[in-house]
Amino acid sequence: DWTMGAYREEMIAKIREQVGDKKVICALSGGVDSSVTGILLHEAIGDQLTCVFVDHGLLRLNEAEQVVAMFRDNYNLNLIHADESDLFLGELEGVSDPETKRKIIGKLFIDVFQKYADQIEGAEFLAQGTLYPDVIESVSFSGGPSVTIKSHHNVGGLPEKMGLKLVEPLRELFKDEVRTLGHELGLPASFIGRHPFPGPGLAIRCPGEITREKLEILRKADAVYIDQIRKHGLYDEIWQAFAAILPMRTVGVMGDGRTYDFAVALRAVTSVDGMTADYYPFTHEFLGETSTRIINEVKGVNRVFYDCTSKPPGTIELE
Ligand code: XMP
Repeated sequence: DWTMGAYREEMIAKIREQVGDKKVICALSGGVDSSVTGILLHEAIGDQLTCVFVDHGLLRLNEAEQVVAMFRDNYNLNLIHADESDLFLGELEGVSDPETKRKIIGKLFIDVFQKYADQIEGAEFLAQGTLYPDVIESVSFSGGPSVTIKSHHNVGGLPEKMGLKLVEPLRELFKDEVRTLGHELGLPASFIGRHPFPGPGLAIRCPGEITREKLEILRKADAVYIDQIRKHGLYDEIWQAFAAILPMRTVGVMGDGRTYDFAVALRAVTSVDGMTADYYPFTHEFLGETSTRIINEVKGVNRVFYDCTSKPPGTIELE
């Protein structure tokens, strides 16, 4: 795409002009926006950039390894893999309120990011993957009354606190343009097309208390579910799909024994922007097959539900 190619060159020139010979830090989440931001910055300023990938212990099966490998294999950028899962899971122990979970995770994220940023001597800039719709939203909502259903955590307020200046190369782009740019920058298609994943990660797919046991079951169930979706060629038709682990055990029977295990809820929606969504109409065959696979392949699960709630009245995540 020649337009995006020209935009890329223009962005790189602008970044060089803004940053000069100073150092920049960038938080990579594994999502498309922060990845494109990091790669663009790396192209513009090379070693002056350090990326920090904060692993809060609430990622999906093998996700941290995959994200880190993708960057190591394809791009030669300075990347810190900050494994802080013990810290996050420790602070979340015994917490079941959804907003409290988000607040704890958001605060720890900032603390951790700051800790790593402090180690990078002379960093003056923070790169963020802010998109055009984020810019518009924050303008039209400022000053007016706002209804917060869920507080979405991001690094807002962080740059001022840390005395950093912002670099936001994607400020003029919409999501689909960021994907085109990602393609242009050589990001693998499988990576660009990934479903959105929330900042608080699996914490909000584990209603009630978070335990390592539940997270492990959830990761495995989710991996089987997504594998089913891919095998049936449905991944790109669905806007977002994931498993959640319900805060209850139910009775079942397996072989000639009684089981008393966790129940898993499957979610899949179509949507344009996540503001409204329709539940995905899987066939009974698909649901039956997926339920059987999850129960057979994931120890600790003996019941599978499909969530057929659209948004509204449901939200996409369970918390
Ligand atoms: P809901 O559950 O509000 O989700 O219908 C709409 C979209 O937003 C994502 N989501 C979040 N993303 N931090 C995030 O970064 C959050 O706290 C959060 N809560 C929901 C959700 O995955 C969906 O794509």
